[in-house]
Amino acid sequence: MGDATVRKLFKNDAVIGATQYYPSNEPLIGAAYPSSVYSRNATLPVLFQPLKIRSVEFKNRIWVSPMCQYSSDNGHATDWHLVHLGGFATRGAGAIIVEATGVVPEGRISPEDAGLWQDSQIAPLKRIVDFVHAQGGLIGVQLAHAGRKASTYAPWVQNRRNADKSVPRNDVAGVEENGWPDYVVGPSDIPFNDVYPKPKPLTKEGIENVVNAFAAATERCKKVGFDFIEVHGAHGYLISSFVSPLSNKRTDEYGGSLENRIRLAVEVAKRIRSVWGEEKPLFWRLSAVDWAEGPEKDEATDEWKQWGIEQSTVLAGELQKVGVDLIDVSSGGNWNAQKITIGPGYQVPFAEHIKQAIPSLLIGTVGLITDPQQAEGYLKDGKADTIILARELLRHVDWPLYAAQTLGVAVKPADQYERAWSRLLHD
Ligand SMILES: Cc1cc2nc3c(=O)[nH]c(=O)nc-3n(C[C@H](O)[C@H](O)[C@H](O)COP(=O)(O)O)c2cc1C
Repeated sequence: MGDATVRKLFKNDAVIGATQYYPSNEPLIGAAYPSSVYSRNATLPVLFQPLKIRSVEFKNRIWVSPMCQYSSDNGHATDWHLVHLGGFATRGAGAIIVEATGVVPEGRISPEDAGLWQDSQIAPLKRIVDFVHAQGGLIGVQLAHAGRKASTYAPWVQNRRNADKSVPRNDVAGVEENGWPDYVVGPSDIPFNDVYPKPKPLTKEGIENVVNAFAAATERCKKVGFDFIEVHGAHGYLISSFVSPLSNKRTDEYGGSLENRIRLAVEVAKRIRSVWGEEKPLFWRLSAVDWAEGPEKDEATDEWKQWGIEQSTVLAGELQKVGVDLIDVSSGGNWNAQKITIGPGYQVPFAEHIKQAIPSLLIGTVGLITDPQQAEGYLKDGKADTIILARELLRHVDWPLYAAQTLGVAVKPADQYERAWSRLLHD
């Protein structure tokens, strides 16, 4: 009677500020526990060391590469994207980069690609971003213009078409297939190959419209609540086709010299930074090389023959000057006859080259990275600052937790999944 003992309460605490009830995870899903809780975390592998860029702290260095899903509804994200991207958040990825997202409708690669060219595309993305944030994740978007590689089929549609021997090989999605073959643009009128659309060279006004479209999409990114933006400057899409002497034959100030060929890239980066503000990170994906035959430069004439690592390093430095924080180093996609030497971490040497040339610039490395020790080795050796994974994460969505287990780090699984990962937490 009259017992004044206060009952200690144990509640399933909610994430504060989320639109629905979600249990709150402490630490965040995919973050390492402090060594005061798990002594074996006293020395963390670099993969699980946080990385702060401007005002944003990434809880680990296992990031999801942008991956087109060919599943948007007139450029609007759907519940497919919520489940697909949400799954990476619930498994502890350090950052999620949303697929190539067109800043104009004709800048999509294929008809069902994502877009941010109109305000109605904000809400479905915001729903995904809010979910990822409620799981303690960070998410950004890859803003893109497909240039001369636009209006093509989704891969599985292309495969079906290729298998049908009653039709000639063609990669152009026609108007009846929701394509826009007459509105495909590039630096020059050179198609990617003879079954791709023939691009119309962008006029100066057209170039200005593209830069404005990146700026307008950035305004929409602010409304969506993205944590960072990545620009798609790789794989032969518009910006990549401007920087390469193989695809850019212009004679105005956007073609010819290296300075001219990278002008569009630098203008886009500069405009995005001015609209985005100073608080949040800006990343840039570039193709380090065209993988065409022969040298990057003809030493006898001093002429650049194809896009390569020397020019990429110059571009990276110029982008840093206008506010790009991290270069995501990919390669290829601009030259139809490219000959790529594929193997584990095949693009790491390009990342390392830029990192060594500009140590103050953050570098992401991508391409055939599948093994936790392999990934950790690249970071430990200073070849890159973060690891970006694509296909391995499609096969193995819980790779961050698997990597923690392999490397012997105690990392937080989602509360709901903890019983599947108890070995992670045994000291
Ligand atoms: C299904 C799929 C879609 C992709 N879409 C994009 C994209 O939207 N933007 C991009 O820059 N790269 C895209 N890529 C390339 C990947 O981001 C990544 O650079 C490439 O797959 C190499 O990494 P990986 O070996 O880890 O898969 C895509 C790759 C796949 C498998």
